[in-house]
Amino acid sequence: MSAPNGKSVVVSGVGSYTPPRVLTNDDLSKMVETSDEWIRTRTGIRERRIAAPDETTSDMAAKAAAEALADSGLKAADIDLLIVGTVTPDMPFPNTACFVQQKLGMGKVPAFDVEAACSGFIYTMEIARSLMLTNGYRHALVIGAEKLSSITNWQDRTTCVLFGDGAGATVLSLVDEPGVGILQSLMGADGTETGILCVPGGGSASPSTVETIERSMHTIHMQGNQVFKIAVRVMCQSAVEILGKAGYKAEDVSIVIPHQANNRIIEALAQRLGIGMDRFKINLDRYGNTSAASIPIALDEAHRNGRIHPGDLVLLVAFGGGLTWAASLVKWQ
Ligand code: ACO
Repeated sequence: MSAPNGKSVVVSGVGSYTPPRVLTNDDLSKMVETSDEWIRTRTGIRERRIAAPDETTSDMAAKAAAEALADSGLKAADIDLLIVGTVTPDMPFPNTACFVQQKLGMGKVPAFDVEAACSGFIYTMEIARSLMLTNGYRHALVIGAEKLSSITNWQDRTTCVLFGDGAGATVLSLVDEPGVGILQSLMGADGTETGILCVPGGGSASPSTVETIERSMHTIHMQGNQVFKIAVRVMCQSAVEILGKAGYKAEDVSIVIPHQANNRIIEALAQRLGIGMDRFKINLDRYGNTSAASIPIALDEAHRNGRIHPGDLVLLVAFGGGLTWAASLVKWQ
């Protein structure tokens, strides 16, 4: 996928925000019939962050974006495209990106959301990159932000132990240099699997009623086993495919930033790719699954902790509800 006119889109800033309130596995074991031991061994999660009741997805997104802007040395006024990946918008509409634009005091630039569940950040990044290369936007703010606690069924032990809240952001910049930054991306979806991971109520299929609330249709419903199997398959396929397309081998990858859903999914991916776990960034033990926010939060942590260096090949890979999947290969600047 060579960029036109010798240009590339690079990551010029990263940032994240997670709410201060920590919900531990022990806390959860007082709410549902579960245990720290079960959650840790089945998922790797120890704790997750929970947003304040009045804290919205756009509040968290704006905080992560402010950090990414500071990291890039740019100002909100320099941004000419804003996209938010989320399944937990502040409202069905206006879109969350419009709230973020307002909160950051940005110019009247295009602002919209992308809904691809946990693949949402990579989808968002690729849409921004394509628009930058074709329309000439110079700097884009690309955010993954979620308040999953607002769509979690806190009585369902099979799902409530998995999710958390937070936001991660990157600034993307167009540069006059070929072959740097985002080298290759891929996106996919399998609409035959819509039923295994969804929030069934509140949309046009089942508008909100007393009955939809009584039947907990506004929270996440998941067939965990099914999702697990498909996740391992599509994450591996995506990683192998993107490396092949870009002409790289697994051993060329400096660091993998996978969607943070379950340690066992990541271990299976590492094994099949033949990449040691030491080259994977994992922070799901502290944040759980934050859907579209998980990759940019992990990317920001890896960057701040000095795990990514200029010239490094960074592999991002995700799967999520839809089912959707996506991967991106980034040559770090
Ligand atoms: N505590 C204790 N026991 C539990 C819990 C819990 N929290 N949850 C389930 N169990 C029980 C089950 O009832 C079952 O009991 P049974 O054998 O008596 O019937 C047993 O544990 C095993 O349940 P499984 O579902 O088979 O457990 P599994 O090993 O598959 O782990 C899990 C479940 C962690 C959900 C796993 O399937 C998984 O991670 N799936 C992928 C989830 C995922 O990545 N989702 C992405 C969603 S992101 C998005 O797009 C929004």
